[in-house]
Amino acid sequence: MCYAIPGKVVTIDKKIATVEYFGEAKQAINEFDDLKVGDYIYAQGGYVIKQIPEAEALSILATWKETFFQLHELDLRLSRMDLDKTGIDKKLAVILDKAAEDLPLKEADLLHLLNLEGDKELEYLFKIANFLRQKHLGNSCCVHGIIEFSNYCSQGCAYCGISTHNKGIKRYRMTKQEIIDTAYEAIEKYGFKALVLQSGEDPHYSVDDLADIIREIKNRSAVLIFISFGEVGLAGLKKLYGAGARGLLMRFETTNPELFAKLHPGRTIKTRLAHLEEAFKLGYLIITGGLVGLPGQTKEDILKDILLTKKMNTEMYTFGPFLPHPNTPLKDAPPPPVRDVLKTLAVARIADAKNAKIVVTTGFETLHPKAREEGLVAGANSVMLNVTPAKYSQNYTIYPDRAHSGESLQEQIDETLGILRGLGRAPTDLGVTNA
Ligand code: 5AD
Repeated sequence: MCYAIPGKVVTIDKKIATVEYFGEAKQAINEFDDLKVGDYIYAQGGYVIKQIPEAEALSILATWKETFFQLHELDLRLSRMDLDKTGIDKKLAVILDKAAEDLPLKEADLLHLLNLEGDKELEYLFKIANFLRQKHLGNSCCVHGIIEFSNYCSQGCAYCGISTHNKGIKRYRMTKQEIIDTAYEAIEKYGFKALVLQSGEDPHYSVDDLADIIREIKNRSAVLIFISFGEVGLAGLKKLYGAGARGLLMRFETTNPELFAKLHPGRTIKTRLAHLEEAFKLGYLIITGGLVGLPGQTKEDILKDILLTKKMNTEMYTFGPFLPHPNTPLKDAPPPPVRDVLKTLAVARIADAKNAKIVVTTGFETLHPKAREEGLVAGANSVMLNVTPAKYSQNYTIYPDRAHSGESLQEQIDETLGILRGLGRAPTDLGVTNA
């Protein structure tokens, strides 16, 4: 998915192609030697991923055209700032007026937003976040797929249900061929254009095995691949980039160094951040973020997490709630209130209004059945669907009772498209930079 709309190449300058979509110009990195001005392409995450014959592109564009403008109009209507400011605290009004005008906010202002509690104030915050999302990024909503191919993990993260703490879980590994076939079906049958390959830190698969899998998937289909295998080492990142991976999904979880150390025995925030920095330097698109509501975590910590995510040139922000798993040391810690997650999404949008793709996580959907509807109108503009075969994904229990477990992929797609249509969002990814 991310049913990318075909775009027409209007200029090529070294590795950068400028691509036009219904009159809007975007830029994408091009790695095809034979790409010419006038060609039609699909772009994902700012990369040209596929050339498409003109006749096919024109026919897809013809079916999209009307819907594209209809969705756009609906989104515009829903994101209008019809604000009733009566009774709103003056300080808040000043901060949010500044945000709406794209004026920079101080850290103290962002912290004030994270500390809001009143329903009316929160409604105001979410509306500004939604307004900014629409103003800068339009109605495009990324829909990536994720394949969770192994729930074996060598790590003892204190919150995680597939960590070494959980002795009661049925472990599984997909074979190389199963992973490749699952990706093929997601791309060719269901139309996904960006896939995340994820597993626990499972030494069973060598970096060479993982590179083979990536190479094979990319040989068969045009797709943007994000890797999410935990800390693979800097040499590993290089090798996997060489094999064709172009994105890394790895949360730093929390920037609070003491909390990080307590939750991740044997690991340091320094090494985690070094992976993210090195990956960015190598050319990976970065998806990162943290957990909201960890025991001992403060609103100041969450603000630092948001600001660090911004500093790391992140392509997509992933912030989800901590959810207690009964077979882990944090089994008795409560999850955060829903509004803390929504506030995090909204403040992330305000802090990085023009660039951020912000995902509504499955964790948030597990905490709150209306997470997508509410998250997407509080600053978020991305979702991820689980394309793991159901017999496996039911055992990928990072937390209990995961949302959508037991649903078929088609059911998930239909439900997602219904929600997006209702909000005037198009499941597309039109590239990174406005030309
Ligand atoms: N609650 C919420 N998220 C969790 N993760 C792992 N365990 C939990 C939990 N109990 C998240 C981590 C990790 C991602 C793959 O899953 O943030 O980065």
